[in-house]
Amino acid sequence: MHERIASPAFFIGKGDETLISFGSGQPDLPPPPAAYKVLEHFKSFKYGLVQGEESLRSAIAKEYPFAEPEDFVITNGASEAIDLAMRAIAQDAPGSKVLLPRPYYYSYPHNVSLAWMIPVYTDLENGKLSFERFVRDVEGCRAMLINSPSNPTGTVQDIEVLKKIESYCEERGIYIVSDEVYKDLIYVRENYLLHGKRVITINSFSKTYAMCGLRVGYLYTKDREVIERAVEMKSHTSMNTSLVGQAMALAAMGERDAYVASHAKIWRERRDLMYRGMLDLGLDLWEPEGAFYVLPKFKNPERSMHDLYYNYKIITYNGEWFGAPDRLRFSYALDTDKIHEGLRRVKEFLGKEYATY
Ligand SMILES: Cc1ncc(COP(=O)(O)O)c(C=O)c1O
Repeated sequence: MHERIASPAFFIGKGDETLISFGSGQPDLPPPPAAYKVLEHFKSFKYGLVQGEESLRSAIAKEYPFAEPEDFVITNGASEAIDLAMRAIAQDAPGSKVLLPRPYYYSYPHNVSLAWMIPVYTDLENGKLSFERFVRDVEGCRAMLINSPSNPTGTVQDIEVLKKIESYCEERGIYIVSDEVYKDLIYVRENYLLHGKRVITINSFSKTYAMCGLRVGYLYTKDREVIERAVEMKSHTSMNTSLVGQAMALAAMGERDAYVASHAKIWRERRDLMYRGMLDLGLDLWEPEGAFYVLPKFKNPERSMHDLYYNYKIITYNGEWFGAPDRLRFSYALDTDKIHEGLRRVKEFLGKEYATY
């Protein structure tokens, strides 16, 4: 009897040469070389500013129109930034509702509940936000979370809809937490940066710079109260984000444009291979417009995930963890040889076990 796979924690950090992991969303590519060079001379082992090093905040501020270094808090990845944002929003209104587009990144409902708020949902229509549905579902909410390009759907939201949501929320004082960790991995258009008095932008060095284990991210907002609350909470929890991590992140930013441009080609090639490969297998899925995920429909996704793992050495994530109980999520942050081999094994599975479900 095999052990049941109850959550992504079962797979995180697992890997041997025979496994093909379409599981966790960690880029396999090396970070910009400048990041490593920092290590040769780095000697700062004291506490740093809780808000984050001024040099890094200044460099990031240049990427956002009208931003100042004091509008940022440098965090342990986007994960801590989302947690701080949620707890800052909840501080004088615990029990508030937060709207999550569904399917969602699997941590979001937990981030909301851990801040003593209540997750409520607006279902995406073919991977897209519907403004009419949003207006109905956002009623009574204190905040909403947007993730475009999205994990797990791979879709990008229409700019017109984002703008309408932006003004709707601005007029009513609803916070928007915009998780833009995939903003540089977008195949269909330029990223649209949401902005407004109550917008909290989340980003990190995990995806764009392939530095996820380093744990450097940030939140950016013009809402001074949110910044003050976040810094105050962080001073009692994780304190400063790793200084060597911040120095490496700053060095990586110096090579940003060339690095992002050279990777765009690689991601597009992988996206095409994965999408066409899955269509050839007869699977029903949305064409990825950003990030590095596909979310095809599957019969009995939990059983499929188990059989793929135990019989074919393929890691996939159960769609149920993302609020998509009729689907499986595949990450294609893998080289093309592995994607080819993975698709070959999925094909074998579809012709054998799956055909009997
Ligand atoms: C949508 C989304 N937000 C946040 C995160 C967490 O990012 P970080 O590694 O910067 O904490 C991930 C990681 O997969 C993600 O996909």
